Amino acid sequence: MSNDSNAIEVTGLSKRFGGQPALRGVSLSVRRGEMVALLGASGSGKSTLLRHLNGLHRADAGSQSVVRLFGREVQSGGRLARDVRAQRADVACVFQQFNLVERLPVLTNVLVGALHRLPLWRGLLGRFPLAERERALDALRRVGIEGCAWQRASTLSGGQQQRAAISRALVQGARLILADEPIASLDPESSRRVMALLAELNRELGVTVLVSLHQVDYAFAFCPRTVALRAGAVVFDGPTQDLTPARLRDLYGTQTDELLAAPAAARPESAPDFFALPQPA
Ligand SMILES: Nc1ncnc2c1ncn2[C@@H]1O[C@H](COP(=O)(O)OP(=O)(O)O)[C@@H](O)[C@H]1O
Ligand SMILES: [Mg+2]
Repeated sequence: MSNDSNAIEVTGLSKRFGGQPALRGVSLSVRRGEMVALLGASGSGKSTLLRHLNGLHRADAGSQSVVRLFGREVQSGGRLARDVRAQRADVACVFQQFNLVERLPVLTNVLVGALHRLPLWRGLLGRFPLAERERALDALRRVGIEGCAWQRASTLSGGQQQRAAISRALVQGARLILADEPIASLDPESSRRVMALLAELNRELGVTVLVSLHQVDYAFAFCPRTVALRAGAVVFDGPTQDLTPARLRDLYGTQTDELLAAPAAARPESAPDFFALPQPA
């Protein structure tokens, strides 16, 4: 049943790669305006799940899998909806590797977010209307790097590049940000700033955020709710604060260390001090 107050609705999502299950009947809904962490060790299916949400992967043919965003079907039974392209403007993806065109100025990269509103020739010639340029500059101001607008993307630090990618999502006008390990390549300070920025956009603009993480401490600091995957199945869905170390060990066994493994310097101030627990022998 479709519920329009949900930004994301996934039911019975199953995906095999060459016979190996990567997602096993995943069901999940995210209300509009929520910020949710998608937690799991490497290989647990986080990226695969996110790629089904924006229609880059199709579920197993003939399965009961359904994905809806904002009440509109993205795919069902392994078939993409006809209007899946029209939906893409609502959804922005943010990746570990930023996905900027490095030789182009930051501003141009951010203006890519506006392309879906413009005639093709404008994009091809790089002739963006003034209003769009102003919007892009506003977005860069919002993420705190307006001073870098005219620099090539390659000259920015990783954290700045990720903030540029997020401002591209803002210019796009996305109502949903799917972020796949957006802080995995960043130092702790940049990681905090990027997560704080996502949280701010969520809080102030009402953008729904689903962010995959393979370490639980940033989920604690920034995401009220966590959905945890293990081997392609949802093993926890609830308040992040319920993910005590004991609970994590129940869920993940020997994989727990990977989820707790952030160096001390990476721990946000607000994370509970149980991250300092001694490692099991
Ligand atoms: N394109 C692909 N082809 C084959 N196997 C894949 C592909 N993408 C992911 N997998 C497999 O699916 C499982 C889940 O991978 P992934 O979604 O990338 O996990 P995560 O993002 O949590 O690290 C892994 O076993 C991975 O090897
Ligand atoms: Mg991944």
